[in-house]
Amino acid sequence: MPVVKKITALETYTVRQEVLRKGKPIETCHFIGDDATTTTHFGLFENENMIGAVSVYKTNSPLFTEKIQFQIRGMAVLEDFQSKGYGEQLLKAAENFCFEEKADLIWFNAREKAIPFYQKSGYKIIGNAFDIPNVGIHFVMFKKN
Ligand SMILES: CC(C)(COP(=O)(O)OP(=O)(O)OC[C@H]1O[C@@H](n2cnc3c(N)ncnc32)[C@H](O)[C@@H]1OP(=O)(O)O)[C@@H](O)C(=O)NCCC(=O)NCCS
Repeated sequence: MPVVKKITALETYTVRQEVLRKGKPIETCHFIGDDATTTTHFGLFENENMIGAVSVYKTNSPLFTEKIQFQIRGMAVLEDFQSKGYGEQLLKAAENFCFEEKADLIWFNAREKAIPFYQKSGYKIIGNAFDIPNVGIHFVMFKKN
């Protein structure tokens, strides 16, 4: 079973580029808030090789009134390692971290394709679909503590 470790923003880029920004320049792998002191990045490692990444940001969404909110971004598992339960392991680690940090609510913009994956972990959709240019159709999903 792979292990989850905290990593730097820069260390997320290889996995982000391969999975989420395929064929796009490395600059597109930087997300606003990546370097904030309140942001935490996690890598999933199998035998020292990073096979997945996810990041959590202390960002509130205007869609919710909860006081302490965290946003999850950059959830990705390398293609060869997908559908083995590793995404679920990584998501759970990010979620546990947020709830340990007293999050009242976790939210994110989910790609249409990934919605069943998040529903399986108990996340719910709020609102209508919206388009993120160059990335595709998304829905906001959330879970309350
Ligand atoms: C989405 C992603 C992170 C999921 O990680 P993963 O390791 O493939 O998922 P897991 O194997 O942990 O899946 C957990 C459960 O969700 C289900 N699931 C995963 N993807 C699914 C999908 N597209 N449709 C339906 N169910 C799905 C699995 O069947 C599994 O359930 P099971 O245990 O009953 O088999 C990964 O596939 C990925 O990186 N995809 C491309 C990038 C992406 O879309 N990221 C999300 C951006 S919002």
